[in-house]
Amino acid sequence: MAETIEPEHRLKKNLTTLDLIIFGVAVIIGTGIFVLTGRQAAVNAGPAIVISFVVAGIVCALAALCYAELASTVPVAGSAYTYSYATMGELVAWIIGWDLVLELGLGAAVVARGWSAYLANLLSLPTWMAGEKAIPDFGAILIVAAVTTLGVIGTKLSSRVSGVLVAIKVAVVILVIVVGAFFIKFANYKPFIPPTQPAAETGASTWHTPLSQLLLGIEPVHFGIPGILAAAAIVFFAYIGFDIVATTAEEVRNPQRDMPRGIIGSLLICTLLYVLVSLVITGMVNYTQLAVDAPLAHAFDVVGQPWVAKLISLGAICGITTVVLVLLLGQVRVLFAMSRDGLLPVGMAKVHPKHGTPYLITIGTGVIVALLAAFISLEKLSELVSIGTLFAFFVVAIGVIVLRKTRPDLHRPFRVPWVPVIPILAALASLYLMLNLPVDTWVRFVVWMLLGFVIYFVYGYQHSRERPGMKYDAAHAREYMEGEDPKS
Ligand code: ALA
Repeated sequence: MAETIEPEHRLKKNLTTLDLIIFGVAVIIGTGIFVLTGRQAAVNAGPAIVISFVVAGIVCALAALCYAELASTVPVAGSAYTYSYATMGELVAWIIGWDLVLELGLGAAVVARGWSAYLANLLSLPTWMAGEKAIPDFGAILIVAAVTTLGVIGTKLSSRVSGVLVAIKVAVVILVIVVGAFFIKFANYKPFIPPTQPAAETGASTWHTPLSQLLLGIEPVHFGIPGILAAAAIVFFAYIGFDIVATTAEEVRNPQRDMPRGIIGSLLICTLLYVLVSLVITGMVNYTQLAVDAPLAHAFDVVGQPWVAKLISLGAICGITTVVLVLLLGQVRVLFAMSRDGLLPVGMAKVHPKHGTPYLITIGTGVIVALLAAFISLEKLSELVSIGTLFAFFVVAIGVIVLRKTRPDLHRPFRVPWVPVIPILAALASLYLMLNLPVDTWVRFVVWMLLGFVIYFVYGYQHSRERPGMKYDAAHAREYMEGEDPKS
């Protein structure tokens, strides 16, 4: 915290509760509800996708309480990374920072690619230019370049732009719910939970079986309760973003009051909308017909309302824009915090003299995300984003318990109720959802984390501010948190 007071590394403090809720909804509603809902209803859960959204929402609510406590106690940029640093030390912090690249950087690339596909669809662009078949994907490059520019100019401008886009997005989601409700046929809800079906019958590979089913030694299945849980782990992607609200703590005028309100408020709004949207969509169209790229628009085409379908496509483009924006800026903030701590080169953390933004990191992140989105087909990687995020939730929940034990004296403007029960439940629930992700996702996750260890021991460990002889002493930060003058 002391280090954030140094003028060259200081960010502007100008965000309010409303900004936080807009920021949260801006990144939460995106590819998850607009795309994943349909396929998961069709292959894993049927109309019970509604239950999957509730299950994932509960896991997120538990984690949100933990994020809110830590964000109000340690209001410094970097989110889960910073909390782990404060609670469990440098190695765990590095692990989380490295893990968050999966959520934020990779998430931004996945979503940029999806944005491009919608653009291609709406404007009927040629396949070489934008969408899944385009290599390089010029649409994805365009959106990442635009968002990077906003990031360099400054957070206030970015959140104003995203405010307009969020309004359009929420309006379209409400349109789906209100207009769609008139087209519900109750016959589509029968069966609400389709009976289990062996995965072998659908030709699914063992590599893509949820780890939980493999560990239990049961025959891989779709639908039924296992299907609802498998779908929950995947549509969990739709909730990713509320945690990113916490990464702006350093830029919030009154983080102690505004941070818990911002995080929990945006999560509640989205959970309600998701449950209603998925209920309406599976009521309008039989779940077996929902395995399409744009299921929300498709549902309105099926019931003979093409004008509503077009509006939804337009709203999806606006909505997905803000998701790319917030994921990319979230990644910038985590890298900013990591370089300020010396785990990545300190020079990267320079703040722009006029705009007050970490412009070097922003541009670097933009280039890498643009390259990923331009050349790599990321269709299945939303699962890798989910596993990375759930792992961060797990560590944050443990962090709440650790910090209550090691630093009971710290001022906690927001306290998680019933500690340690709620954080333990949050940790177990996150782990449980992780286990419901496919085996191939687990393998990629483990490989990525091992790579992180190598980089830490080759670079981060040597250059960290924690090492003797480095310019900064972490003890200063601890003294500051205790309320003493770090220079005395
Ligand atoms: N929650 C975000 C989305 O669904 C990442 O696109």
